[in-house]
Amino acid sequence: MKVVIPVAGLGTRMLPATKAIPKEMLPLVDKPLIQYIVDECHQAGFRELVFVTHASKNSIENHFDTSFELESMLEQRVKRQLLDEVRSICPADLTISCIRQGEAKGLGHAVLSAHSLIGDAPFAVVLPDVLIEQLNQKDEPVNLGAMLQHFEVSGHSQVMVEEVAKEDVSKYGVIDFADHKDQRIAHIVEKPAVEDAPSNLAVVGRYVFSQDIWTHLANTQPDASGEIQLTDAIAAMIASDHQVKSYSIDGPSHDCGNKLSYVKTFIHYALQDKKLGADVAKYLKTLAV
Ligand code: UTP
Repeated sequence: MKVVIPVAGLGTRMLPATKAIPKEMLPLVDKPLIQYIVDECHQAGFRELVFVTHASKNSIENHFDTSFELESMLEQRVKRQLLDEVRSICPADLTISCIRQGEAKGLGHAVLSAHSLIGDAPFAVVLPDVLIEQLNQKDEPVNLGAMLQHFEVSGHSQVMVEEVAKEDVSKYGVIDFADHKDQRIAHIVEKPAVEDAPSNLAVVGRYVFSQDIWTHLANTQPDASGEIQLTDAIAAMIASDHQVKSYSIDGPSHDCGNKLSYVKTFIHYALQDKKLGADVAKYLKTLAV
């Protein structure tokens, strides 16, 4: 199964950092965000990735391309460890294709732009501004890999959800269960007002879809802001009696799409870093008031 990674958005919440640098290329410690996402997809078992991209985002493709100049320089200077790190950015068994979304007309439109590369087949969607761990505390595979397995067993589309504070629901797609026991989604709405939200279960940016979503995406009309919403296509799929299941995230998600969350995520990953973590913790203690 292929996975679609939409990277064509404008990243306005991270301006001015994202004026000339794609949001997905902002670093977390020593790697750009998109590399964590590609690693997550690879760990989950995906081997074919499709980036939906934009003219201003060539550095994303370049990051995963071989750089002969850099590799030969590192080889000459006998920087073995750096050379291995650079070579492992794109695993040998991974294929990355790119397709352009001419205009940023919304997430649904971005996903639909990948139809010709995916074909009429099931596929996953991974949003690159949220990082999600792949192993739980017992080192068992969870989250994206588990959603893929659930889809393979049941054939039902999967949407990852996470509980958020009630006052934050208007930032997310929000779901409501038809049946708590089997996790079937009855309703899904994009950014509801707090008083209208059906629950506090927010969509976190990981999906596995059956091919039925394509027709609904193609028929989805732009919303009031002119964007074609993926959420509206999922709602239409549910309304036409396709079962869509929710998958409750195992562990935390790490949002990098706005400034405060990005700073928190950066600190979290810096503290987790094998080489830097202890020194970062020591430094943070000196700042504590
Ligand atoms: P976001 O709305 O979080 O990202 O979309 P954005 O539009 O880049 O950022 P802001 O809101 O202006 O700060 C979620 C994901 O969908 C992609 C974005 O690149 C992001 O990864 N996206 C969004 C597209 O590829 N195309 C679009 O038209 C919209």
